[in-house]
Amino acid sequence: MKKKRIVVLTGAGVSAESGIKTFRDSGGLWEEYDIMDVATFEAWERNQELVLDFYNQRRKQLYEVEPNAAHYALAELEKDFDVRIITQNVDDLHERAGSTHVMHLHGELKKVRSTVDESLVYDLDGWELKLGDKCEKGSQLRPHIVWFGEPVDMIPAAADLSSTADIYVIIGTSLNVYPAAGLVHYVRPGTPIYLIDPNELSVGHIHGVRIIKEKASTGTKKLVDELTGKKSIP
Ligand code: APR
Repeated sequence: MKKKRIVVLTGAGVSAESGIKTFRDSGGLWEEYDIMDVATFEAWERNQELVLDFYNQRRKQLYEVEPNAAHYALAELEKDFDVRIITQNVDDLHERAGSTHVMHLHGELKKVRSTVDESLVYDLDGWELKLGDKCEKGSQLRPHIVWFGEPVDMIPAAADLSSTADIYVIIGTSLNVYPAAGLVHYVRPGTPIYLIDPNELSVGHIHGVRIIKEKASTGTKKLVDELTGKKSIP
C-alpha cells in the first residue's frame, strides 16, 4: 500500500534542544547580532571577515552538537509514512538523524559557493572558511546561505511539495520569515495541519491547525504516537 505523505516544515526550534540557538527567542542569535551586519549581501560586501567569522562560529558549533529526539522521531516516521522535510535550518541534523528527504530552503552551513558562479557549490572540509579560499574560477568562496534580500530558489519546489501533503506538520518556527512562512497556504484544503512549538504563536491564518504546545522533542514524539496509532494526543 502506498504510504501517506507527511510534509514537515521545520525551523530553528527543532534544533534548539541540540544546543543551537534560535534566532528570535529571548537570548536568540538576532539579539546578539544585527542581521544587517552578518546576513545580507551588503554585509558581505562591507566586511567579509565578519560575515565569514559569524558562519564559521555556527559551523564550528555544528560539529559539536548532535540530533535530538525530534530529529530522530521524524527519521523513524519514515517506516510508516512517506516523510518529506522542508527545513529553514542550515544545520544537517535531520540528515544525521537519518531522514532521507530533506530540502534546505535557506542553504547549508557545511557547503560554500563561488561568488562569481553560484552553480559552483562545494562541501567545505572542516569548519573554517577563510578569506582567500577561492573557487576554481578564482573568486572568494562565500557561505552557501540564503541571506536576507536574496531569492529563495527552493520555494517553487517547496510549494509543490506542500501541495502534495496528506498531513502537514510545522515544528519550531516563528513563521516570521517569508516566503517560507507562506508555504502552509499551498497545503490542500482539508489536510490535517499540526504545529509543535512551546510558545504561543499567532496562527489565526492557518485554518484548522492543531497546536501541540510543547518542545520539539516531546511534541514530535506525541505526534508520532498519534499518527502511528499508538496513542492519541489528549
Ligand atoms: N522546540 C520547538 N520549538 C521551539 C523550541 C523547542 N525546544 N524552542 C524554541 N522554539 C520555537 C520558538 O517558540 C519560535 O517559534 O522555535 C521558533 C524559532 O523561531 P525563529 O528563531 O524565528 O527561527 P525560524 O522561524 O527558524 O527563523 C526563520 O529566520 O533568520 C532567519 O534564516 C533564518 O531560517 C531562519 C529564519
